[in-house]
Amino acid sequence: MHYLHDYQTPAYLIDTVNLVFDLNEKYTIVTAKLYLYANPIIPIHQRHSDLVLNGELLELLSIELDGKLLEKIQFQKTEKSLTILQVPEAFFLEIRTRIRPQENTALSGLYQSNGNFCTQCEAQGFRRITYFLDRPDVMARFTVTIIADKERYPVLLSNGNLVSHQKLPEGKQIVIWEDPFKKPCYLFALVAGHLDCAEDFFVTQSGRQVTLRIYVEKGNLPKCAHAMQAIKKAMRWDEEKFGREYDLDIYMIVAVSDFNSGAMENKGLNIFNTQYILADPATATDMDYIHIESVIAHEYCHNWTGNRITCRDWFQLSLKEGLTIFRDQNFTADTTSPVVARIHDVVGLRNSQFPEDAGPLAHPVRPECYVEINNFYTSTVYNKGAEVIRMQQIILGDVLFRKGMDLYFARHDGQAVTIEEFVKAMEDVSDVDLKQFRLWYSQAGTPVLDIVDDYDATKKTYTLTIKQSCPATPQQPAKKPFHIPIKIGLLDSSGKEIIHDFLQLKSPEEKFTFNSIASKPIPSLLRGFSAPVKINYAYADSDLQILFKYDTDLFNRWEAGQRYTVKLILNLIQDFRAGISLQLPTDYSSIFKFLLETMQDKDKWLLAEMLTLPSEKYLAEQMKIIDVDAIHFVREFVLTELALQLQIVFLEIYEKNHDKKSIIKFDNKFDTHEMGQRQLKNICLMYLMILNNKLYFSMGLNQFNNALLSNMTDTMAALRCLVNIENPEREKVLAQFYQQWQNDALVVDKWFALQATATSPDTLSRVKQLLKHPAFDIKNPNKVYALIGAFGQRNPVRFHTDTGEGYQFLADCVLQLDALNPQIAARMVTPLSEWQRYDKKRQHLMRDQLEMIMRQKNISHNVSELVNKSLV
Ligand code: PHE
Ligand code: ZN
Repeated sequence: MHYLHDYQTPAYLIDTVNLVFDLNEKYTIVTAKLYLYANPIIPIHQRHSDLVLNGELLELLSIELDGKLLEKIQFQKTEKSLTILQVPEAFFLEIRTRIRPQENTALSGLYQSNGNFCTQCEAQGFRRITYFLDRPDVMARFTVTIIADKERYPVLLSNGNLVSHQKLPEGKQIVIWEDPFKKPCYLFALVAGHLDCAEDFFVTQSGRQVTLRIYVEKGNLPKCAHAMQAIKKAMRWDEEKFGREYDLDIYMIVAVSDFNSGAMENKGLNIFNTQYILADPATATDMDYIHIESVIAHEYCHNWTGNRITCRDWFQLSLKEGLTIFRDQNFTADTTSPVVARIHDVVGLRNSQFPEDAGPLAHPVRPECYVEINNFYTSTVYNKGAEVIRMQQIILGDVLFRKGMDLYFARHDGQAVTIEEFVKAMEDVSDVDLKQFRLWYSQAGTPVLDIVDDYDATKKTYTLTIKQSCPATPQQPAKKPFHIPIKIGLLDSSGKEIIHDFLQLKSPEEKFTFNSIASKPIPSLLRGFSAPVKINYAYADSDLQILFKYDTDLFNRWEAGQRYTVKLILNLIQDFRAGISLQLPTDYSSIFKFLLETMQDKDKWLLAEMLTLPSEKYLAEQMKIIDVDAIHFVREFVLTELALQLQIVFLEIYEKNHDKKSIIKFDNKFDTHEMGQRQLKNICLMYLMILNNKLYFSMGLNQFNNALLSNMTDTMAALRCLVNIENPEREKVLAQFYQQWQNDALVVDKWFALQATATSPDTLSRVKQLLKHPAFDIKNPNKVYALIGAFGQRNPVRFHTDTGEGYQFLADCVLQLDALNPQIAARMVTPLSEWQRYDKKRQHLMRDQLEMIMRQKNISHNVSELVNKSLV
């Protein structure tokens, strides 16, 4: 176990790193020449004269110190370290190792993907390449030499600038790359392969020309245009919004098919999962287009928040990740629809971070201990971390926040720092005391606000009493009160805004009084989701109707609809369990009718969001003991009733907005207006198709057939409905889809995910069959996420079938994966960690599987850390 409070400054630092890679078909020889010196900060009498390097799965060939070969007695080797005894104050170390990238299925360190070499070093993959001080506070200048067969690996890349390129005898070539910026080894990257390249350029605000290159596997060049546009858009945006300019003459991205996560911000040489680069209208949906832009912006933004200023240690991960998510969320908000972007961020937070924060894996944004750092690339560190930055922006205001960012960049450029330094910069520019605010970084759990109000008709005053609390989380039974920014508005009974205000809650309970309020107002609370908290306030249906129709804060308009629906569904679940026949109040559907009639020509995208009911996952969050079957049944009931009552309007909107030819022309810039139109008509189609009548069914089938070759948004929307209805066409359309797109790996992933999330009772047996499908490959993370991940995380009714077969299936997959790729195995296991939220029978079945996993020998740290925590 590693603890934050054990942090020690490194005893030795590395000034320069010279790496030589000799890439071969069976193995790779790595020669690392390091110039090391004792850290001058540490007083001489405290200095340890042994140097301890990290290293894993390395075959040590030789060590030289200042040109002399070391004898066996001069060093000690363990499975995970190499200690060089009695080193001088400053010295050269040359270490030769042999590694086997072709056998690397963990996809950490140097590995192969479709025959091309690539690396992934964050967090601790570099130690699988050579012995090193593998910690982010050791920053060095890297020079990288690559030697490889010219035919097989014509493209040889590393960080920084290419300084030399020569032919060698025997069909080989040699290149040298030099990165002028100091960096920690987790930002090192190397790529070697047969790749096509798209090239463009960008002129920075100061007039420098930067070469942009995207490298992809052969044949994928036509799918790079959107990504290239996105790079330029992100570069311009970061200049305009944060004054940050790119700092090298070249920016390269390589897209690889086998990658554990989304993408990686290696200096000057980002490596991406193909999923976040490749797109054209026929194979990528509108949401794929949006995600590509946001991941590109994310990795690009890391150049300043992550690379130029990096983390002192991995406990500070949110320093770069929370901040960079915050930055990419702002990018998306600024370049698409601010309110829809905010809705998506909040939905994401509630669907994954809230459950995490409420379960046995809960941890603070800045964790205090870990066994395996890879288990902490979580939505808490990333997404709650972004909310914590956002709250500081709200508390300081935009102008001071920007000043704080500027100070942070100016003060810490080139350094490896802590979250404390970030908050300090915000305090120093603003004179705002953030002492209490810092608790957001150290206390886990989602705070709850219990709000009551009181209107005094004689004094014309309105008072909100807000009480905060936060449930216990592992190791943190009691919490101190948080500093919570709460934006609010007050509406009169006709929906007109009387005032808006910004409250700061610091005590366990506070009263906020508003004067000269003519009549009892309706409160619009936590506007824009100004803090990542839960709110309890006893809204009357009529209040929610008014907010849903008229709130000037668009996010809260949407939120009112969500609240209204949650309230309704929870009530219907009671009826369902009591055996009372379900009835949808007409008030409820008439409010949707009002929306459809008044908004369909305005903001279509927002309207589509407002027509989307809260997910089963979010509904589950509202129940103490989750009843997956009731949630699913009742939610389907509400959808069906809405469809029945509003089918005329749905049909009308569908027809008005549906392009029968299903042609999309993006012209390299995609149009959020047209996108909104598609989102809207596709949600109308979903409502209509749930009615399962001939007319609507053939409408869906037509859309599928017309779009299949040209428009993936429309294809998927129709296919999802067709697959979720019992009908003879189901198998036909699935086969047709596969037939059409079998050679496109990313589309095949969609095909797997669609079947894994289907609600039909035979889903599990189908998923088991698909594991044996020739297109499935358990070594490929995208395939695992699409089939196993989607089933475990996005199909509550089928995963939680009360026979326990879903749990058993998942646990078996985890074991199989663990032997190949522990990081991915660990990500698959989390649904089982939530066992305490289910009924006794399911609790037992889930625990049985966790215990079965624990009984295995040789289980990875990754999986055992999560399973251990889950079983406590
Ligand atoms: N740092 C990467 C990002 O968020 C994520 C990542 C972590 C990628 C670990 C690979 C491995 O941009
Ligand atoms: Zn990141």
